[in-house]
Amino acid sequence: MQAAPRLPLIALLVLVVAGCSGPATDEGAANPSAAGVDPATARGQNLYFANCVACHLPAGTGLEGAFPPLAGSDFLEGGPERVIATVLYGNEGPITVNGVQYNGVMPGFAHLTDEEVAAVVTYILGSWGNDYPAVQPADVAGVRAPAQ
Ligand code: HEC
Repeated sequence: MQAAPRLPLIALLVLVVAGCSGPATDEGAANPSAAGVDPATARGQNLYFANCVACHLPAGTGLEGAFPPLAGSDFLEGGPERVIATVLYGNEGPITVNGVQYNGVMPGFAHLTDEEVAAVVTYILGSWGNDYPAVQPADVAGVRAPAQ
C-alpha cells in the first residue's frame, strides 16, 4: 500500500500548477529580475521602486480603499496622456478605479525628467499583466505644461 498516499500529493501539485497558470498571476513581481528584462524596463522598474512602491506596492496591487491598483487598473484604459498627467501633477479628489472609489492624495512627480516619467509610465503600462504600448519622452513633453 505505497501508492495510496501519493494520490493526494499529485492532486495538490496539479492544483498548484493550474493555479499558477491563471490570468491573475504576478510572475513579474515574483521574479522582477527575470531574464529578458531590457535596460529600459529595468530603469522604469528602479524608478517605480524608488517613487511609487510605497503606495502602489511591488505588484501594483495598491491597497483597496486607500491606494488604487495599477495592475489591471481600468484608469489606464483612458490613454497614456491621462496617466502621464497623473504622474506629473498627481491627483486629488474622488477617483473610481475598477469600481472602487478612492479619495486620497497622489503626489506629483514633475521633478522627474521626461525620460524618467516615460520609463516609469512604460513600466506600469507593461507590468503585472498590463499590456499597453511604451510611452516616449516626447509624449511626456507634450503633456508637461510649459515652465511658468
Ligand atoms: C503617497 C502615495 C502615492 C505614491 C508615492 C504614488 N501614488 Fe499613485 N496614487 C496614489 C493615490 C492615493 C491615488 C488616487 C488619488 C485620488 O484619490 O485622487 C493614486 C493614483 C494613481 C494613478 C491613477 C489611478 C490608477 O490606479 O490607475 C496612477 C496611474 C498612479 N497613481 C501612478 C503612480 C506612479 C507611476 C507613481 C510613482 C511615480 C505613484 N503613483 C506614486 C498614491 C500614490
